[in-house]
Amino acid sequence: MPDPISRGMFITFEGGEGGGKSTQIRLLADAIRKMGQAVVTTREPGGAPSAEQIRGLLVSGAVDRWQPITETLLNYAARAEHINHTIEPALGAGTWVLSDRFADSTVAYQGYGHGFDCQKIVDLHQIILGDFKPNLTLILDLPVEEGLRRAISRGDGEDRYERMGKEFHNRLRDGFLEIAKAEPDRCAVIDATQSIDSVCKNVLVALHTKFPDLAS
Ligand code: TMP
Repeated sequence: MPDPISRGMFITFEGGEGGGKSTQIRLLADAIRKMGQAVVTTREPGGAPSAEQIRGLLVSGAVDRWQPITETLLNYAARAEHINHTIEPALGAGTWVLSDRFADSTVAYQGYGHGFDCQKIVDLHQIILGDFKPNLTLILDLPVEEGLRRAISRGDGEDRYERMGKEFHNRLRDGFLEIAKAEPDRCAVIDATQSIDSVCKNVLVALHTKFPDLAS
C-alpha cells in the first residue's frame, strides 16, 4: 500500500494596504519549494475564476457601493468558491497553499473597519466553513500612511478600499493586531517597514517556529 498523502499546510498573509504581501508570498513559495514541498499561491477575494468575478465587484467603483453586510456576504461567497475550487483540492493532494488574504481580512475590513458585528462574521464563518482555519497567518504590519502611500503608487485600478480614508485603515490595522493577540499560536505579526530581505527573514523564522520539522 502506498503511504497516504499527508495534507498540505495552509498559510495566509494578512495586513492593511501596501505591506508587501505579494512579494513576500512569492519569496516564501520559492523557499518552501526549495525544501522539496509543492506549493500553490493564491489570493482573496479571488483565487478561482468564479471568485475573481466577485472580486471585480468589490475592489473597484464607488466607496459606498455596498452595505457592510453585503460586502461581508460577497467576500464569503467568493471564499466558498475559492475553498471548493482551489484551496481544498490542493491541500487534499498534499500541496501547501499560500494565500494573499483570507477570513481575517473580513473581520478586519468589514468588522473593525466598517463596523459590521464581528460576532456575526464569526458565526457566518462557522456556518460556511466550520472550523476551517489557516495553520499559520503572517500579519504584515506598518503605519497606515506609509502603506497607503505605497499602495496608491501601484496605481493598479483596484483602489476602492484605498479611497476609504485614514480612520478606516487605522481601525482595520488595530483589528489585525487584536486578531493576532487573540490567536498567538496561529498568528505572527511582522514589521513590514523593514527591507524586503529583513521581512522575508522574519517570515522564515515564523515558518520554522510553527513547523520545526521542516527542512531548512
Ligand atoms: P488586495 O489589495 O490585498 O489584493 O485585496 C483587495 C482588497 O479587498 C483589500 O483592500 C482588502 C479587501 N478585502 C476585504 O475588505 N475583505 C475581505 O474579506 C478580503 C479578503 C479583502
